[in-house]
Amino acid sequence: MAEKTFKYVILGGGVPAGYAAREFSKQGVKPGELAVISKEAVAPYERPALSKAYLFPESPARLPGFHTCVGSGGERLLPDWYKEKGIELILSTEIVKVDLAGKTLVSGTGETFKFQILIIATGSTVVRLSDFGVKGADAKNIFYLREIDDADKPNDAIKAKKNGKAVIVGGGYIGLELGAALRINNLDVTMVYPEPWCMPRLFTSGIAAFYEGYYANKGVKIIKGTVASGFTSDSNGEVKEVHLKDGRVLEADIVVVGVGGRPLTSLFKGQVEEEKGGIKTDTFFKTSVPDVYAVGDVATFPLKLYNELRRVEHVDHARKSAEQAVKAIKASEEGKTVEVYDYLPYFYSRSFDLSWQFYGDNVGETVLFGGNNPTSPKPKFGTYWIKDGKVIGAFLEAGTPEENQAIAKVAKLQPPVEGLDQLAKEGLSFASKI
Ligand code: FDA
Ligand code: NAD
Repeated sequence: MAEKTFKYVILGGGVPAGYAAREFSKQGVKPGELAVISKEAVAPYERPALSKAYLFPESPARLPGFHTCVGSGGERLLPDWYKEKGIELILSTEIVKVDLAGKTLVSGTGETFKFQILIIATGSTVVRLSDFGVKGADAKNIFYLREIDDADKPNDAIKAKKNGKAVIVGGGYIGLELGAALRINNLDVTMVYPEPWCMPRLFTSGIAAFYEGYYANKGVKIIKGTVASGFTSDSNGEVKEVHLKDGRVLEADIVVVGVGGRPLTSLFKGQVEEEKGGIKTDTFFKTSVPDVYAVGDVATFPLKLYNELRRVEHVDHARKSAEQAVKAIKASEEGKTVEVYDYLPYFYSRSFDLSWQFYGDNVGETVLFGGNNPTSPKPKFGTYWIKDGKVIGAFLEAGTPEENQAIAKVAKLQPPVEGLDQLAKEGLSFASKI
């Protein structure tokens, strides 16, 4: 079987692969030195498009439109770009065996890849309902969403089941974004999730009340406090009903499940130090194994701002951690070092006409400001998180670029607050004057 050797290998062809390749090219990489190995069939792309514009009924986003690095306003790297730079894109290739100490990767078809330096960027996989033993969860038209192939399936089903019934299982990022996308496609949408309000890992009840009200006004039905306990299918094996734990039964032509992600670390088990469900790294994204780095969703890294190790499952960190790792690799080759990774957590989402941004940490007391009435023609509201008398996190719906910059600055600088009432009264102007 074939064996190939590279100086640098990026394992995983997601968002960080594109940003790392661009950084390698900026720093100087010789033809044949760098390879990206991905089980996906396409060059790195901006994954967030899959749950948003990829599903639009009118002018949907399609490749090559959203290859990296357009997501952060950069150059679009088409397959020809990699060719011109002598960077090998090894696509449709799943690595099934890894020997970190022996610096060897083996693909499902038995090809061997040797590396001097490895960047692990295998990302996450979806949590499946069958993992919890939910019966009938393998019926046709029950979809998960992670990669571009996954996004083509609901797209086909939307056309086949025109104006049909869709059930969304999960009230997190995928649930909210797909709930909106399917409603925009004129499906009759019901969302089901176990918690008392949507997106509980970030939203307060006040934030969630706005989005739940807005979705309800758009015709999305919401069932809270229960989970899908089983599915029945018709004689074609297509999903027909969703059975809920509370006894209710929902008709369904399409089901989309978004019940969380799990970092893909199993290939490296026992070979590298892990922490908090991810691969432990230092501030340069270096793992416990020499010459092996980990970035994106799989990395548990020192978050300097909060002085603790964290894993972050969002695209901004995927991009920046990739760039940091490459800068550190190239600097160390010259006996130099780079600055520590001083990351400010940044999450965002878009659905219907809505768009929010969040910066910082969502712990401590909260203050809601602005109008969170979902029927308002121009809703604009936000929330601050306050810990030890300082604002440490900020959320804003419908912010302008300047306003979003202002809340980012607040979360980074952590200004002290006089009192929560005063903060509520000042609202966005508190951030704007920092
Ligand atoms: P990612 O999952 O992007 O890439 C991993 C890559 O590795 C994939 O190409 C995979 O095929 C490959 N791979 C894995 N194992 C392999 C193996 N054994 N052999 C070969 N290849 C292998 N975030 C955000 O901030 N805002 C947003 O709007 C969104 N929207 C969004 C939508 C959807 C549908 C998803 C699934 C996720 C988001 N995210 C997001 C999250 C964000 O996209 C995510 O955090 C980054 O893509 C993480 O990048 P990684 O490379 O770590 O994983
Ligand atoms: P999530 O963690 O955001 O949400 C999971 C949700 O699943 C929970 O909030 C809960 O409501 C629900 N849930 C859990 N167990 C359940 C059960 N048994 N039955 C029904 N519901 C259940 O995960 P996700 O929405 O699946 O997203 C997956 C990954 O994709 C995450 O890493 C996320 O960060 C990423 N993503 C991010 C964005 C964004 O940042 N805008 C968009 C899409 C996806």
